[in-house]
Amino acid sequence: MNLLRALALLLILMISFGSVSAVPMPKLDIGLGGHCVENPGYMRQNHMHMLKHQRDETVRQGIRGGKFSLSECVNCHASKPDDNVLGGSAHFCQGCHEYAAVKIDCFECHSSKRKIIVGVGK
Ligand code: HEC
Ligand code: HEC
Ligand code: HEC
Repeated sequence: MNLLRALALLLILMISFGSVSAVPMPKLDIGLGGHCVENPGYMRQNHMHMLKHQRDETVRQGIRGGKFSLSECVNCHASKPDDNVLGGSAHFCQGCHEYAAVKIDCFECHSSKRKIIVGVGK
């Protein structure tokens, strides 16, 4: 039998018997849309490093308005109904971190809510 077909059949069997994790990726509310500051695949892998780097630049060197600003992530990614990146499993930062079992303390100080500017967003 064709090897690929055999593998495909095996995979189907494994899925139907539940040996492949059936945990679905969370359906995330990405917020306003538009374009991310970097391509999404890169961001998925690297956002934590970019954010920490940006924080160090701002806090230690006073550089503001950088590309990887946390408040800008929140402004764009907060969900439209409640302007928040936290709150439930569909909320952008919380949803994926819950799924990945990651805990962050950033929002103890930083706002998780979109700054509403009249005429922008909503
Ligand atoms: C102007 C809006 C905007 C800003 C600002 C923005 N993003 Fe995004 N981001 C997006 C959009 C839209 C997508 C989804 C693109 C797609 O899937 O095609 C995305 C995708 C992502 C993803 C991948 C999500 C996934 O499901 O894999 C991550 C992680 C991410 N952004 C983190 C951040 C972080 C962290 C910041 C701040 C440093 C940020 N974004 C700033 C619009 C934005
Ligand atoms: C104890 C409070 C506190 C915690 C916790 C904290 N920050 Fe901050 N952060 C600050 C303060 C204060 C500033 C300086 C704000 C300013 O001067 O604009 C800052 C600035 C930043 C900036 C630059 C400004 C901006 O909006 O981009 C980034 C990025 C940042 N923090 C990321 C993070 C990340 C990521 C985490 C979690 C890993 C985090 N911070 C946790 C207090 C905190
Ligand atoms: C598509 C999934 C996904 C989204 C969306 C996402 N993250 Fe993450 N984040 C992760 C994963 C996975 C890790 C852990 C990576 C690791 O441990 O190497 C992580 C780690 C982090 C860390 C570092 C935590 C630590 O203790 O080192 C910070 C800070 C962070 N994310 C901030 C954010 C913020 C802010 C948002 C929303 C704007 C966000 N993330 C959205 C998947 C995501």
